[in-house]
Amino acid sequence: MSDRPKLRKAVFPVAGFGTRFLPATKAVPKEMITIVDRPVLQYVVDEAMEAGIEHFVFVTGRNKGVIEDYFDIQFELENTLKARNKKAELEILQSLRPMAGGSSFTRQQEALGLGHAVWCARDIVGNEPFALLLPDMLLKSEKGCLKGMVELYEKTGGNVVAVEACDPEMAFKYGIVGIGEELDGGFRITEMVEKPAPGTAPSNLFINGRYILQPEIFKLLETQERGAGDEIQLTDSMLKLAKNQPFYGYRFEGTSYDCGSKEGFVLANVSYALDRPDIRDKVGADLKAVLSQLS
Ligand code: UTP
Repeated sequence: MSDRPKLRKAVFPVAGFGTRFLPATKAVPKEMITIVDRPVLQYVVDEAMEAGIEHFVFVTGRNKGVIEDYFDIQFELENTLKARNKKAELEILQSLRPMAGGSSFTRQQEALGLGHAVWCARDIVGNEPFALLLPDMLLKSEKGCLKGMVELYEKTGGNVVAVEACDPEMAFKYGIVGIGEELDGGFRITEMVEKPAPGTAPSNLFINGRYILQPEIFKLLETQERGAGDEIQLTDSMLKLAKNQPFYGYRFEGTSYDCGSKEGFVLANVSYALDRPDIRDKVGADLKAVLSQLS
């Protein structure tokens, strides 16, 4: 056991417009669109729970009230399930929500970028390290990605980001890290480059939407400087933080689905459906039939 303070809080930025999912996102937040039978966001909250997170901080925006309702108790529904003796359904509802007092909601009044969304959580997080999980990235693996990161963090302290390999040709689309000293369970990051020009990336490892950050990031975000796309970018402040604090990379071993894109979302649905024993056989057989029509 390390004597480092336990990582207790996780931030979930859920205030974006989700324009790639219009028209659905006109009325439904993209984080609430379902993979099989539960919202994308639930999978990411589950990953944080598995890593021992105790407090869940949601940075929401206008038209996202349904997210707060989702994590609340629905007495009418639960009483009806009780009356109908639907024990399994009741247990699912009860097991999935954070403990009373274990979640906070704050609003990003304008979607000014991911960095700004994270900054909106500063008072709730306070002066302690925190996890940041981008809810549209679903990371499927035996051991949850954040749990693996916490294990590394307990040894290294500092800041930790999860990375995974991409096709080197595609590196220009991502935030790419440089690989330094290898450590037990990770490596020291030498540099971070956002969307490197083709042929200039320091590696093919990209930051995949999971972070453990020190609270000093909030001071850096406070300047509200606009970066790429005229948005307040998290990466810009991470680069400043890296001048004074170490960053470590955790290699995620598993499969990631970018549910912010249509392709990733559809694939995630198929993949998670095939993990469910109750529907696996039927979905698998029907899928084969559908795919056989592709020539
Ligand atoms: P994205 O850029 O993928 O989300 O941000 P988006 O803007 O909603 O999606 P598109 O491109 O219009 O389809 C990654 C995460 O950061 C949150 C988003 O909600 C998403 O979960 N985010 C982004 C905010 O909370 N606030 C922002 O200002 C921007």
